[in-house]
Amino acid sequence: MSIFCKNDIFIIQTNDNDCEYHYVFGIDKFQTNQQIHWGKKCCVDDYFINELGHQNSNHSNLDEYTQELTPYGLTMYRNYDLKARFSDGCREISLDYCGYAQDGNSLKVKFKDKHYPLEVVLNYETYEDSSIITKWITVSNLGDDSIIFEKLFSGEFSLPGVKPYKFINTNGSWGAEFKKTETLLDGGSLIFESRKGTSSHTNSPQFVAYQNADENSGNVYFAVLEYSGNFKVEASRDLFGKTRVGMGLNDFDFEYELKSGETFDTPKIHFGLTQGFGNMSRALNRFAINHIFPRNFANTPLPILYNSWEATWFDVNTADQSKLAKLAAKAGVELFVMDDGWFGQRKDDHAGLGDWYVNKEKFPNGLDELINNVNASGMDFGIWVEPEMVNPDSDLYRNHPEWTYHYDTRTPCELRNQLVLNMTKPEVQTYIFNCINDLLTKHNIKYIKWDMNRPFSENGSENLKYPKMIWYLHTKAVYDIVDKLKENHPDVQFECCSSGGGRADWGAFKHFDMVWTSDNTDAIDRIVIQDGYLLTRPTKAMRAWVTDTEGYNRKTPLDFRFHIAMRGSLSLGGNLLKYSENELQEAKKQVDFYKSIRDIVQFGDLYRLLDIDNDEISSCIYVNEAKDKAVLFIAAVNTRCFKKKIPLYINGLKENAKYEFTFNNEKIVKSGAYLKNVGIPIEIREQYYNNIIIINEVE
Ligand code: DGJ
Repeated sequence: MSIFCKNDIFIIQTNDNDCEYHYVFGIDKFQTNQQIHWGKKCCVDDYFINELGHQNSNHSNLDEYTQELTPYGLTMYRNYDLKARFSDGCREISLDYCGYAQDGNSLKVKFKDKHYPLEVVLNYETYEDSSIITKWITVSNLGDDSIIFEKLFSGEFSLPGVKPYKFINTNGSWGAEFKKTETLLDGGSLIFESRKGTSSHTNSPQFVAYQNADENSGNVYFAVLEYSGNFKVEASRDLFGKTRVGMGLNDFDFEYELKSGETFDTPKIHFGLTQGFGNMSRALNRFAINHIFPRNFANTPLPILYNSWEATWFDVNTADQSKLAKLAAKAGVELFVMDDGWFGQRKDDHAGLGDWYVNKEKFPNGLDELINNVNASGMDFGIWVEPEMVNPDSDLYRNHPEWTYHYDTRTPCELRNQLVLNMTKPEVQTYIFNCINDLLTKHNIKYIKWDMNRPFSENGSENLKYPKMIWYLHTKAVYDIVDKLKENHPDVQFECCSSGGGRADWGAFKHFDMVWTSDNTDAIDRIVIQDGYLLTRPTKAMRAWVTDTEGYNRKTPLDFRFHIAMRGSLSLGGNLLKYSENELQEAKKQVDFYKSIRDIVQFGDLYRLLDIDNDEISSCIYVNEAKDKAVLFIAAVNTRCFKKKIPLYINGLKENAKYEFTFNNEKIVKSGAYLKNVGIPIEIREQYYNNIIIINEVE
């Protein structure tokens, strides 16, 4: 990556062969920032700033601008990124450019308001090993009075050309996360957002826009937001055909007070342009490993964990958990996680949240008895917490009813019989930090599953002069506490969970080591949920449990369930106490096998080959960085009419190298070019067909 700055034109150039492009913007004679180009590399000297036409009472030329950042004010009527209220009541921002600073891979372009003591900086960061660019905005209050922001986005994009774009996002819910949608934006605005306090059950904090692209070709413009709370992605297309996208903190019920002397950095946007969706997913995946995940475990394969939730629900105790742990160890599991139910007066979801002390009835000799048993079986121990919540039936709530978001005149909505703690209060933050810090200090705990199981409501916070700040401050408090806990306990891994995949976003990837994908562990549904997740999210962080086929899961064979879960970070979550000896042996075999492919799956590049919705077969291949080892996954639920006698084109390998593997008991040696262009014939007729094939380069 290189950055060129010439005559107030800034050119960011990527060097990656798969994703070579220029991202260009500049400053015009009115001191306004203008986005110039996002696409194929051109001669650096050719770029110039476009003169915009004149305006009249029926036409605003500001509306024609394509910008990196659009402040609200003057004759600007389209969507904007930045709106503030100054102490005298003025609600417009008018910026003058005042220079830039470049330092290697980072660029800062500075602006000041013409009248008010507001400084705005556009920040850019580039990376030697990635075609992804990071951008965000810094605002500073250089005066004596507070500035109140009503909108504080992280940046804006203008998509090339005037033809309409299709946007891929998700439109899911609890148990159906990451369900992909595709929407053509012909005119007007298109909004993807969250207003619930967390990020990703419904829409995703991302945009993926294209006109003519598929898995392997065509321009794909994309961006992800590093944030786990209320976000907004706001795309629009004007009458000239120009498509713009702004993204950042949601301006729904939003305010931010920037006090005298304070500076605020918006959440970061990581964005890029690739040929095809496959390159986008791979660029984002590698970027997460190299630059986003907390460094302690970024390059370490995640352990195979067992989670007790679906086996014992709230009914946890030393004896049963120890029995489960013994069996989990027998199956080759490396980390045993006890889920909900171990604390306070927790019998079901009616009581206990907030009381993070061990339930004496369930664990009469304390937690260590179980932890010692788990450790004696050769596994690490992990535990579930839901720190941002309190049950009205808890000592914490009885002592501190004022610690929740509330209005004295409103009856609180007790969704899941719980209330949201006011995380903007320093005393609440200290309480939560101390509870978890104590837990980690007193016990040999190597893993925290941090859950968050309800959206916000009755969002009063009497401690804040500007209560609409809760949305941002709450999310920031979560990050701050987790960061501090990680600092104190660098050998502890953190999983981010929110009623399944409610916080599976790039903010979570920055502060946690992995995320819980969905409470829907049905292997058939998981194919689609995981596909939607993997479009813009890293494989390694995707926890995937093999569970039982009782209750809401469909009856699928054990090997099929393992197959689907092995496409992410394999975990076990079934009731092992009910497994037959054969099933346990099968589980052990599968776990051992995953250990042999884990590095390739968790750190490799994903190439999607066949799609369950369009092809009736789901197939993908993970290829290691050197491209000398790969793991090919093929699975089908049901196929019809002999349709599935097709060549499987295997992408992602070195065209000139020879590879060998065994398929249908036959040893095959072929070049990467052959496997990609001629493919191997597959014929699938059986239900729940599943096959994982290890492919090695021939020496
Ligand atoms: C919701 C999570 O998604 C589940 O995995 C489990 O931890 C429950 N909460 C526990 O209450």
